[in-house]
Amino acid sequence: MDDTQAHGAERHDRRIRSFSRRGSRLGRKYEDLLKTLGPKYLIDAPRGNAASSLAPDADIDLVAAFGRQAPLAVEIGPGSGEQCVSWALAHPDWNVLAVEAWHPGAARCVARIVREEAQNVRVLEADAAQALPVVFGLASAGIDDAARVRELGATLAAEHPGAANPRAREIWTFFPDPWRKKRHFKRRLVNDAFAGIVAGCLETGGAWRLATDWDTYAWPMRDVVEASAFFDNPFLGERPDEADEAGPGRGGFAPRWDGRVMTRFEQRGLQAGRNVHDVTGIRI
Ligand SMILES: C[S@@+](CC[C@H](N)C(=O)[O-])C[C@H]1O[C@@H](n2cnc3c(N)ncnc32)[C@H](O)[C@@H]1O
Repeated sequence: MDDTQAHGAERHDRRIRSFSRRGSRLGRKYEDLLKTLGPKYLIDAPRGNAASSLAPDADIDLVAAFGRQAPLAVEIGPGSGEQCVSWALAHPDWNVLAVEAWHPGAARCVARIVREEAQNVRVLEADAAQALPVVFGLASAGIDDAARVRELGATLAAEHPGAANPRAREIWTFFPDPWRKKRHFKRRLVNDAFAGIVAGCLETGGAWRLATDWDTYAWPMRDVVEASAFFDNPFLGERPDEADEAGPGRGGFAPRWDGRVMTRFEQRGLQAGRNVHDVTGIRI
């Protein structure tokens, strides 16, 4: 599929996208890099009805993709890969899967992996909301209807090839696109349907870690985790926030996780005077 066809297909996709297609063209340097080293680090999977989606029945064998079985961390929306690559280098005994919907982002992740010689990171270029159910064989794989996805929650589809994949011990959603305007809130990645998907990909006791520099996203993130039947918030009531729309005493925010590196996005938020909130959900 060439770029024009891919973007045409995207228009026919019914899913609400949490990412934008800004600047999707790659420079020559990245094109060449993807040609030569992409096959080693990018997970090759049959595509679905849009450039960013996977075929609902795609068989992605994570043990084969990494060449070994090891504890798994998944980063959703790694951007240029600062977090996943730095963490992978510090934890060579883990497998780290980066799921990035933005083509240049996926290419930049591969470039960083190569530059920093991280052997234990693989990149999947896809919309995580659509692709994670496929990778981990959830019953919602291939379903576009948000209400139905919400209803299916973390249910495994035993017959799906992905159901055999090891579950993740860590899943990270750091600085997801904020979609600041109220009319765009529906495009935010973190919602109750997505919480069910993340829960289906995590092992019991595994952690879903989130961070944002937008208060108006931090509060609903905390609400999504606390309202979910799949997660416990170990920091209930902690670090209350005066401005919190749910009440100044509500709290529920985690301390900064020491495994989280400072990314360009976080730096920008801090320089602009915004607060960074961390939220953690532990899979029940
Ligand atoms: C604001 S950037 C933050 C990047 C990185 N986490 C950081 O802290 O520097 C958000 C990233 O998430 C990606 N993204 C948004 N929605 C996504 C989705 N549904 N699946 C995968 N990646 C997504 C965007 O393309 C973008 O690279």
